[in-house]
Amino acid sequence: MGLIQETDYGTRASTSEKLVSLTIDGMAITVPEGTSIMRAAMEAGTKIPKLCATDSLDAFGSCRLCLVEIEGRAGTPASCTTPVMAGMKVATQTGKLKALRRGVMELYISDHPLDCLTCAANGDCELQDMAGAVGLRDVRYGFGGENHLVQAKDESNPYFTFDPTKCIVCSRCVRACEETQGTFALTIEGRGFASKVAAGAGEKFLGSECVSCGACVQACPTATLMEKSVIEIGQPEHSVVTTCGYCGVGCSFKAEMRGNELVRMVPYGEGKANRGHSCVKGRFAWGYATHRDRVLKPMVRARTTDPWREVSWDEAIGYVAREFSRIQKKYGRGAIGGITSSRCTNEETFLVQKLVRAGFGNNNVDTCARVCHSPTGYGLKTAFGTSAGTQDFDSIEHADVIVVIGANPTDGHPVFASRMKKRLRAGAKLIVIDPRRIDLVRMPHVEASFHLQLRPGTNVAVLTALAHVIVTEGLIDESFVRARCESESFSDWAAFAAEPRNSPEEVEKTSGVPAAVLRDAARLYATGGNGAIYYGLGVTEHSQGTTAVMAIANLAMATGNLGRPGVGVNPLRGQNNVQGACDMGSFPHELSGYRHISDDVTRKMFEQLWGVALDAEPGLRIPNMLDAAVDGSFRGLYIQGEDIAQSDPDTAHVIAGLEAMECVVVQDLFLNETANYAHVFLPGSTFLEKDGTFTNAERRINRVRRVVPSRSGMADWEITQALANAMGLDWAYTHPSEIMDEIARLTPTFAGVSYEKLEKFGSVQWPCNDAAAAGTPVMHIETFARGRGCFMVTEYIPTEERSGPRFPLLLTTGRILSQYNVGAQTRRTENVAWHPEDMLEIHPHDAEERGIRDGDWVRLRSRVGETSLRAQVTDRVAPGVVYTTFHHPLTQANVVTTEYSDWATNCPEYKVTAVQVSSTNGPTEWQRQYRAHSDASRHILAEPAAE
Ligand code: SF4
Ligand code: SF4
Ligand code: SF4
Ligand code: FES
Repeated sequence: MGLIQETDYGTRASTSEKLVSLTIDGMAITVPEGTSIMRAAMEAGTKIPKLCATDSLDAFGSCRLCLVEIEGRAGTPASCTTPVMAGMKVATQTGKLKALRRGVMELYISDHPLDCLTCAANGDCELQDMAGAVGLRDVRYGFGGENHLVQAKDESNPYFTFDPTKCIVCSRCVRACEETQGTFALTIEGRGFASKVAAGAGEKFLGSECVSCGACVQACPTATLMEKSVIEIGQPEHSVVTTCGYCGVGCSFKAEMRGNELVRMVPYGEGKANRGHSCVKGRFAWGYATHRDRVLKPMVRARTTDPWREVSWDEAIGYVAREFSRIQKKYGRGAIGGITSSRCTNEETFLVQKLVRAGFGNNNVDTCARVCHSPTGYGLKTAFGTSAGTQDFDSIEHADVIVVIGANPTDGHPVFASRMKKRLRAGAKLIVIDPRRIDLVRMPHVEASFHLQLRPGTNVAVLTALAHVIVTEGLIDESFVRARCESESFSDWAAFAAEPRNSPEEVEKTSGVPAAVLRDAARLYATGGNGAIYYGLGVTEHSQGTTAVMAIANLAMATGNLGRPGVGVNPLRGQNNVQGACDMGSFPHELSGYRHISDDVTRKMFEQLWGVALDAEPGLRIPNMLDAAVDGSFRGLYIQGEDIAQSDPDTAHVIAGLEAMECVVVQDLFLNETANYAHVFLPGSTFLEKDGTFTNAERRINRVRRVVPSRSGMADWEITQALANAMGLDWAYTHPSEIMDEIARLTPTFAGVSYEKLEKFGSVQWPCNDAAAAGTPVMHIETFARGRGCFMVTEYIPTEERSGPRFPLLLTTGRILSQYNVGAQTRRTENVAWHPEDMLEIHPHDAEERGIRDGDWVRLRSRVGETSLRAQVTDRVAPGVVYTTFHHPLTQANVVTTEYSDWATNCPEYKVTAVQVSSTNGPTEWQRQYRAHSDASRHILAEPAAE
């Protein structure tokens, strides 16, 4: 197994269907019109020397190394910027060209440090390769002339260095930052000999606009921009393609290794979700995998006040099986349950829900999607018949109007955001609906046409007002609605939307969005060409989350924006496998593929294969499990890869529920906050140690491949299997592929999925079955999965959570680029350089009223709890709104979020909490006590050494 080398064709492939024939070095070749001579030559097997060209960027033509001669044409044009023409006769290797290329290389090398043997890029340097390719043997100019060899290195970025002495000013980094990433952090400063790469105005990388995506490092042909891990470890010698373990974009990477040591993660050009790009988390933030906090041995304790005792796997598994059996005997079959994780693979998740249904004999299984995208599942299933987004990511390239609602893609889904920014730079229009001025509203070369800065909690009112404009101004796509949707539900909805109380003028009073802006935004979406809606947790995490999803679906159907590239309803999923966790039957009422547990035919299919009778009654959701624990009827919980004590709302209630249980089992990488209340800890594996699949936000099933052996000795699916067998089941899987085969047998939308197919295609998007053997990039093309699309009346019912004299501000929460969810992974990496603590964003007006200055400690109080953190005074939030992230356990932002939740799915209302903010001088008493308890509960007694 060697290093996977992707061919660099120098320039992008042309998409033209017209073909052009020419000869290169006497060889006939036919390529699409618009192909560069460089690429055509490469496709014919001839590598023309190059330095400034690379096929991920537009051709630039600056290095003059790729010169060619063309019969009948004067001069020596650059092959990277010259397109092929019919009948052209090109020569790439004449004596004249050789001399010219050597001359160019002599100039570069005369101003380059000659430390190849000790350079970190030795063996992976295009300058070195080109010196060889042009046959450079000496440098006539010597090395004593004016040069750039004495310049300071910039080592400020935690992950890569910038050594200007090695820079050849090819500008690949600058173009990667602009074209691929869309950040525009780099420039070429100065002219001629004085020109140099600069990150901002004389700043270091860390202090600049750079978001550390690493695109420039990857593009750099020399060692100027270089990963610190390569400098430290050396060049990798083999690689494995796998999928990022962080967010729902699902980027593919080559994990480049030396032996069992990961050297670097390089985004995989063939990866269909990311097309060779990445963000700081996926590319660089993997150090947590070997962090000293990793727990690698199973541990048990009878009481949560006892220290942890390291035990063998057999003892830990046996203990759990005995305890769960005892609890069921004493309290009943329904007294235990399980929680699956969106961070785990499809196969792991499938096994946990199987264990609960087939082993525990109940349906008390739920997943963290409960607290994020459960309204998406319910809302889209009702409207279209499928609980998933409608498009693939490529679809954005065909969008004319992009609507972003309650999502912050540049932070939450950065690689997809880069594709979105590219489309916006190419002319698509943008409408942002968000209480906060997210970066997309205004950033280099991107500006939203409209920002509807609504009050938190008024999504449904605003979405219905958009519908009002579309209905009353005759902007409905009548033919689409007639052909594709239910006429009765459409008529009911249209009559409702047209009511004067839903007009922008009325809704302005509740939402704060000026009626004229709202009207113009509705007109743009309905008439601006392909309209695509992308939304996030700012839509779902409300008491009316499901209603808002339905309102979005209504808008798309009414305007005919479904069933083709460039349009659609696209939930931006948070965690890497939140789509998969839902698909796999993690909810208490559904088996895999979203089929209700009470459906006899479906249940029978599972019963026959599993050889057990299944309960037809839906089980408990997470909040119900916690309520039942406090009430005394729920006593044991198996939690795989979730930290409900930090991520779920109303922390005090979660803790009360956990404390009431007799056997809490946590399977995770670290002793997380939930583990403070656990009796058994089972060490889990990182994505680098896993074999399996993740399903991303576009329904794409991607392979996760084991890069290093499991550090704890057992893969996560093996742990679940051991537990199942200890509880009397008879499972004998030997590889996750066998679990996928079972999923395919039991789930119609996965019927055609197998590891063999994933190897063949790289990835597939479900539905993948006989009707769509290669998967389904765009859904609902001819007809909706449910037949006709269903419009739903979306009555706006304001949340019970209101601001008032005691709690006059509305808190909304979100995340930041460098951190990930509860931060368990990213806090254990160098990413803390960007976000060492959670901060409270507060508008200058609200801050001044309270005497709060930037950086002050403030107390954040709601009717359920309080916490302290430091203030960041900013007009990104509107007056009356405050905002924070929830990445740090010391802050415990969820101490203040309330028990309110979505009417249909119980998804918590994280996005609206009435709060008061006041000055304070440090952490609250609750935080101090919590920290003390947490520290005490992490005491570990090491396993006695074997005799
Ligand atoms: S830093 Fe690298 S990519 Fe950027 S101009 Fe210099 S050599 Fe080229
Ligand atoms: S790391 Fe990314 S954002 Fe930073 S300069 Fe390089 S390309 Fe630009
Ligand atoms: S965008 Fe998401 S999936 Fe891609 S590298 Fe970043 S965190 Fe990983
Ligand atoms: S590679 Fe064509 S000019 Fe540099």
